[in-house]
Amino acid sequence: MKKRIAVLVSGGGTNLQALIDAENAGKIPHGEISLVISNNPNAYALERARLNGIPGAVISKKECGSQEAFEAQIQAVLERNGTDLIILAGFMCILSGKFTSRWPKRIINVHPSLIPSFCGEGFYGLRVHRAALDYGVKVTGATVHFVNEIPDGGEIIAQKAVYIEEGDTPEILQKRVMEQAEWILLPQAAEMVCASMEE
Ligand code: GAR
Repeated sequence: MKKRIAVLVSGGGTNLQALIDAENAGKIPHGEISLVISNNPNAYALERARLNGIPGAVISKKECGSQEAFEAQIQAVLERNGTDLIILAGFMCILSGKFTSRWPKRIINVHPSLIPSFCGEGFYGLRVHRAALDYGVKVTGATVHFVNEIPDGGEIIAQKAVYIEEGDTPEILQKRVMEQAEWILLPQAAEMVCASMEE
């Protein structure tokens, strides 16, 4: 049976779109996206879910009032959905050890750098690319990893390098890293993990 995938998002959702496109193209035969959860009610990712007939849920940390209540609500929705695998695809909230320990090797995240560079708390979205450009590295990339209690510290599943080019801005670099690495790696890793869960 296909593993049920819940994708957690906060923003534009281009990685969610890459997952949807891969599933539609038959590239995730061992999994199906069965739920999208956003902490942000205005995330365009929710619209992508709707357009593709995938149930969406909004769970706002602010409305929950505490990290604990926020995570309890996410847990309840995931359980109700029968989730097997959680994919963090541009989900800009850190999950506590209490939450991640309930899902050992069942949460994966895409991060827009070659971990262990430019990662951990405070490194998200464009900030990651700005830090890479400020440092002056010539190669960056993306990483897909399992999620544990250490932000961006779980076991690495896949990485892909991307060259920095003359004149790059954080925005230009972000787009290249997405196109050349994230949108390719994340669906591949999702399939790999779903397939391995059958063993
Ligand atoms: C992506 O680049 C993703 O790797 C990054 O945010 C962007 C979300 O874009 N995630 C992080 O920085 C997490 N630490 P998307 O909403 O279009 O997929």
